Amino acid sequence: MVKAVVLGAAGGIGQPLSLLLKLNHDITELALYDIVNSQGVAADLAHIDTPAKVTGYLPPNNGLQSALTGAHLILIPAGVPRKPGMTRDDLFKINAGIVKDLAASIAQNAPKAFVLIISNPVNSTVPIFAEVLKKYKVFDPKRLMGVTTLDLVRASTFASEVLGADPREVRVPVIGGHSGVTIIPLLSQAKPSCTFTQDQIETLTNRIQFGGDEVVKAKDGSGSATLSMAHAGARFASRILDATIKKAPGITECCYINLDADEKCGIQIKNTTENLEYFSVSVELGPEGISKIYPIENLSRYEEKLLKDAIPELRGNITKGITFISEDS
Ligand code: NAD
Ligand code: LMR
Repeated sequence: MVKAVVLGAAGGIGQPLSLLLKLNHDITELALYDIVNSQGVAADLAHIDTPAKVTGYLPPNNGLQSALTGAHLILIPAGVPRKPGMTRDDLFKINAGIVKDLAASIAQNAPKAFVLIISNPVNSTVPIFAEVLKKYKVFDPKRLMGVTTLDLVRASTFASEVLGADPREVRVPVIGGHSGVTIIPLLSQAKPSCTFTQDQIETLTNRIQFGGDEVVKAKDGSGSATLSMAHAGARFASRILDATIKKAPGITECCYINLDADEKCGIQIKNTTENLEYFSVSVELGPEGISKIYPIENLSRYEEKLLKDAIPELRGNITKGITFISEDS
C-alpha cells in the first residue's frame, strides 16, 4: 500500500499534479487536501480507471490529520504564486505561515513520510519546514526535499533546443537554490557531453535562472508555472517511489536539501559554499530517502563565479526561514 498526499491539491499545480499521481500505478491511495474544492477534484479524479483510491479533505473534521495519516509521500504545492514584478521572496509573508502550519501537522501525523516542498520561496520554505520538524524532534534530513526539478526540466529543454537534440536525451545538473541567481546550471557537465560557446552558455544560464519569470510574464497576472511544475513534481515523486518502494538502485536527482543528509559529503559542500546549511545538489536516493550526496566538483571558471554570486542571496533566504521559526517560539 502506498499512500501519496497532495497539500494544496485544488490549485493550479495541485490539480494537474494530482492527475499525474493518479496515473502512477505505484500509488494505491491518493489523499487530496486543500482549504477549498479538494473534494470536487477528488470526485473527478476518482473516476479514472487506475488503482489509486482518491479521497478529498477540507479543514473541518480534522481533514488535514485524516489526509496525512499513513502517508508514504507528501507533496506540498500549497500557497500563493507570483504575479509580474514580484520575486519569490515576496511570497514569504503568506507562504511561510502556510508551510509552518502544514509542517506541524506532518510532524504529528506523518513524521516518517517523504516530504517534497514545492511552495515558494523554496530557498526559505525548506528551512522553515525543517525547523518545525526539529521542534517536534522528528527531523530526518534524508526525507525532506525542496523540489527544483523544474529547473532541471527547463535546462534539458533549453539546452536541447540549442543543440538540436532530443530533450529527453539531454541532462544538465542544476545546483544551488530555486530563485534567480541562486539557480546554477552546470552546462559543462551536460550529458551526453557537448560543447557550447561562451555566448550560448551565458544566454542559456540566464534563461534557466529566469525561466519562472518567462511564465509569470506570459500568464500576465494569472499565476506562475503550473503544468510544467506538475510534470516536474510527478517526475520527482516517481523517482522517490522507484527508490523507496521498488528499491531500484542508482537513482540520482538534484534537489534542495539540508546538507546533514550525508554528514561526510555535506561537510565538504558546506566548506565550498561558505557554510550554507541548505543547497540543491545531486543526490542518490535509496529506500530511506537520500542515501548519498555527490560533491560539487569540476566546475568551470564561469560556474565558480555563478556559485560565488549565489551564496549571499541563498544565505539570506535560509536565515530568513530559520529565523521565522526561532523568533516564533
Ligand atoms: P494556486 O494559488 O493556484 O494554488 C495554491 C493552492 O494552495 C490553492 O488551491 C489554495 O487554496 C491552497 N492553499 C492555500 N493555503 C493552504 C493551506 N493552508 N493548506 C492547504 N492548501 C492551501 O498556486 P500554484 O500556481 O499552484 O502555486 C503554488 C505554489 O507553488 C506557489 O507558492 C508557487 O510559487 C510555487 N511554485 C513552485 C515551483 C517550484 O519549482 N518549486 C514551481 C511553480 C510554482
Ligand atoms: C518557477 O520556477 O516557475 C516557480 O518557482 C514559480 C515562479 O514563481 O517562478
